[in-house]
Amino acid sequence: MLRRRRLPDAIAEAAVVLVALFLAFAAGFAGWAVGHSTRHTQTVTVAASGATSTSSTPIDPHVAAGAHDFSVFACAQCHGDRGVGGVDPAVPALTTIANALTPARLRHIIDHGLGESKNPTKPYMPVWGEVISTQQVSDLISYLRAGLPAVPTAEPPAIPQGQGLAVEGATLYVRYGCINCHGPNGLGGVPNPQSPDKTIPVLSGAAFRKQFNTDAKVIAVIRSGSVIGRAPIVSMPHWGGIIPDQQLLALATYLKTLK
Ligand code: HEC
Ligand code: HEC
Repeated sequence: MLRRRRLPDAIAEAAVVLVALFLAFAAGFAGWAVGHSTRHTQTVTVAASGATSTSSTPIDPHVAAGAHDFSVFACAQCHGDRGVGGVDPAVPALTTIANALTPARLRHIIDHGLGESKNPTKPYMPVWGEVISTQQVSDLISYLRAGLPAVPTAEPPAIPQGQGLAVEGATLYVRYGCINCHGPNGLGGVPNPQSPDKTIPVLSGAAFRKQFNTDAKVIAVIRSGSVIGRAPIVSMPHWGGIIPDQQLLALATYLKTLK
């Protein structure tokens, strides 16, 4: 009796196992077939979502602000795009500097400058302390410590081509950060409390035009700068070696269009 009852059970069990195996195989085959026929679509989707995630990867707001400051205050013009160097032998790259220097030392260098040079043909690190805020220096340090990543739209303004020297000069006035110290339209207004005249000079008006009455005089002072005194006094940076001759002429041409 037991045997007779066991035999159909065994067959039933075997059938169940076979059905299960078949289903598993069928499911597997179906999955493979679907994957196969949609492989092209899937690849495209992966690539597309990959591209989207690169452009929308959230970036620390302080690092982003630092990248913009790096452009606004012309750090990029002397130290190279993203601090890679190669602009002038006197200006070091900044790509590894944040590993070598403490944040306090970096802050001191940005606020007080470095290598305050009496040699007018050699650039020095400008004194930014009167112009840049504590928050902006913190953001710059965050950017340096993050390894100077590429940040969309933080690039310096592009130089217009074929629109004349004055238009080019107007962009260079922003690109080299002149505007931060001499004000929009050369109108001045930026304090320099420790200096004899207590302010960074205007680059407009009758008195300026009388003193700087030729392109050559304007170009000479941009190229050679000044060292009025020690930080925290802000001096005119030396731009020789940084700004090419043709761009110096464009800046002088632009200044002549001002009030
Ligand atoms: C006019 C050109 C110029 C500009 C603009 C400029 N730098 Fe410099 N920077 C220099 C020079 C030159 C040195 C090297 C000074 C020396 O060691 O004699 C330097 C040095 C430094 C150093 C120290 C590097 C080291 O290896 O010791 C740091 C950090 C630095 N700059 C950051 C900045 C930041 C941030 C900005 C923008 C806010 C900036 N620089 C803008 C010219 C410039
Ligand atoms: C970090 C601040 C700073 C930046 C950036 C700066 N300057 Fe100056 N500039 C000064 C100071 C300070 C003086 C006054 C120097 C003196 O009295 O010896 C000055 C003087 C001048 C003068 C002579 C004006 C006068 O009445 O003596 C000219 C021209 C000039 N700058 C043009 C420029 C141009 C063009 C740029 C951009 C390429 C520029 N400056 C960037 C701070 C700056």
